[in-house]
Amino acid sequence: MNKFYVTTPIYYVNDVPHIGHAYTTIIADALANYAKLQGKEAFFLTGTDEHGQKIEEAAKKRDKSPAEYADEISSKFKELWDEFEIGYDKFIRTTEEDHKHGVQLAFKKMYEKGDIYKGEYEGHYCVSCETFFTESQLVDKEFCPECGKPTNLLKEESYFFRLSKYEKPLLEWIENNPKAILPKSRRNEVVKFIEQGLEDLSITRTSFSWGVKTPKEINDSKHVVYVWLDALMNYVTALGYGKDNKNISFWPANYHIIGKDILRFHAIFWPAFLMSLELPMPLCIAAHGWWTRDGEKMSKSKGNVVKPKEVADAYGLENFRYFLLREVPFGQDGDFAQKALIGRINNDLGNDLGNLLNRIIGMSHKYFDGNIESSLVKTYFQNELTQIKSIINGLDDYMSEVQINKYLEDVWKIISIGNKIIETTQPWTKMKNNEEDAVKALLGLVANLLAKVALLVYPIMPKTAEKIASTLSFEINAQNFSKYIKNDEMLSGFVIEKTPPLFPKIEEPLLASEPVLEPKIVVKPEKKEEENLNVITIDQFFQTQIKIGKIVDAQEVKDSKKLLLLQIDIAEEKTRQVVAGIKEYYSPSDLIGTQICLVANLKPAKLMGLTSEGMVLAAKDENGLTLIRPQREVKVGTKVS
Ligand code: MSP
Repeated sequence: MNKFYVTTPIYYVNDVPHIGHAYTTIIADALANYAKLQGKEAFFLTGTDEHGQKIEEAAKKRDKSPAEYADEISSKFKELWDEFEIGYDKFIRTTEEDHKHGVQLAFKKMYEKGDIYKGEYEGHYCVSCETFFTESQLVDKEFCPECGKPTNLLKEESYFFRLSKYEKPLLEWIENNPKAILPKSRRNEVVKFIEQGLEDLSITRTSFSWGVKTPKEINDSKHVVYVWLDALMNYVTALGYGKDNKNISFWPANYHIIGKDILRFHAIFWPAFLMSLELPMPLCIAAHGWWTRDGEKMSKSKGNVVKPKEVADAYGLENFRYFLLREVPFGQDGDFAQKALIGRINNDLGNDLGNLLNRIIGMSHKYFDGNIESSLVKTYFQNELTQIKSIINGLDDYMSEVQINKYLEDVWKIISIGNKIIETTQPWTKMKNNEEDAVKALLGLVANLLAKVALLVYPIMPKTAEKIASTLSFEINAQNFSKYIKNDEMLSGFVIEKTPPLFPKIEEPLLASEPVLEPKIVVKPEKKEEENLNVITIDQFFQTQIKIGKIVDAQEVKDSKKLLLLQIDIAEEKTRQVVAGIKEYYSPSDLIGTQICLVANLKPAKLMGLTSEGMVLAAKDENGLTLIRPQREVKVGTKVS
């Protein structure tokens, strides 16, 4: 069976999980789910990076031993991934004995090969980034160019790895493997960095002890292994390197998913270590951008760190997953703003996907007792089937380049084919004209389209996909992926289940958007009793003129999914033109000749370039929207009071 191996970075245990960690982990989870749907045997690794000076210092600050502290934070990561139902196959901790043996074995091999030598390191070190810098790299000769914190001047005995020896082989590897580092801009950045010349890398430290001891064969026990050599080795020790090699057949990794800040470690140091160990190169190192919140960098001191659990609890885990993967082109920085998240949920998920499912549930039960069949689809909708097929053909490339946003964009093009074809076919008119077959074919088309969409969104929104699949009477699995996606087969006939809406509309932000740093004392003016109850006087009510009107014409608004253009007679010289957001619930032909209630003294507004001179009254609940109409025909222009 085809093997597939994907990893996240292992997370430092000096901080609790935030949106950046969740983002990487969810990308990796989606890739693993996708590989499984393709019938591959997938191994998904995540875990925690627990050694090094940074962790030792963080533990000390809290009066804890590093081991105690690491246990505590590591379990927070594990708990969160479990709550998020992340399907990892192994959660590695670098404090595990097996991992430490693997690191020592690698050190020994590199040493025996002559790739490690003893020397003295003199230079600057940023504890926060666990990175060495030369003076010329520092900002104002003191500060870390990556995180801006002050660096320490180190002068200590150290073992060095001959990184310089691998300059050429690294460039050749990148040259020969155009997809080894993604996106392309990051690949170019790495090439430039190597071309400037690589210095040998200090790979042991003596001034603290919280790390993997150098192997006993070296006989120099005061040295602990540099935390990045220790950490990077997790990608193979998790497969049994240095112990039983139980899962080593998964190596090389198909994807190391990382953030842009740790690219150099993964795209230069790690491949060089692997070359020294004579292990194959990873197939793809994919670096994503950073998340900000409401346009600002997140930091603990600002109190604006996005906590993934809070977001998932408030908005729904799968909605959050969709947002993260859809919102940002892979590799670019992204901004977390609740407005954007709500927009994605209400529009992409609710209006586009959820509504399409509701529409066929409603129509098939109204017209055919819920029966849906595929037999007539090809006769009526060959064009649409061809369009869908051609979109699907491009999707695998997007996924393999980790362009999940583009993948999702294209899946949504399939959904919009469904919504559009309902509008142009006008099944309600067809039913009136006894063209039942066309409506059966339409429902069959949309059901098949939604089945494909469910299979395709499964990697990103597994639970949602399963709900859609169960409504459509099939299961999400590799066999069905191959049947309905790769071989383009059609669903057999079934009775569609009635299900509640998948994505209830979100009306307002559900999280406090601005973190409260200092509580502000606001003295509120005392309100009159009526204001407190939000009551109005009868005079205030009569400021709104509501009149009975008759719709004399109704048209679709071009390029709008929601709007209809109505001409309404309210016994004035001219009819009123009203743009109403009711297209999803009424077809123009249902409306002509009906009476409605119109707010007649509303300031005219422009919608999609069309003037709207009033508002029709309607009520909306979970079953949809209904216009408010008089119970019997009333003279047009009559005031409602
Ligand atoms: N321990 C190292 C990785 C070792 S892998 C062999 C490490 N850990 S980390 O916890 O600091 O960061 C883990 C990941 O989180 C990195 O990929 C980093 O890019 C990502 N992020 C940290 N803050 C982030 C954002 N604000 N936005 C997106 N990702 C960010 O580095």
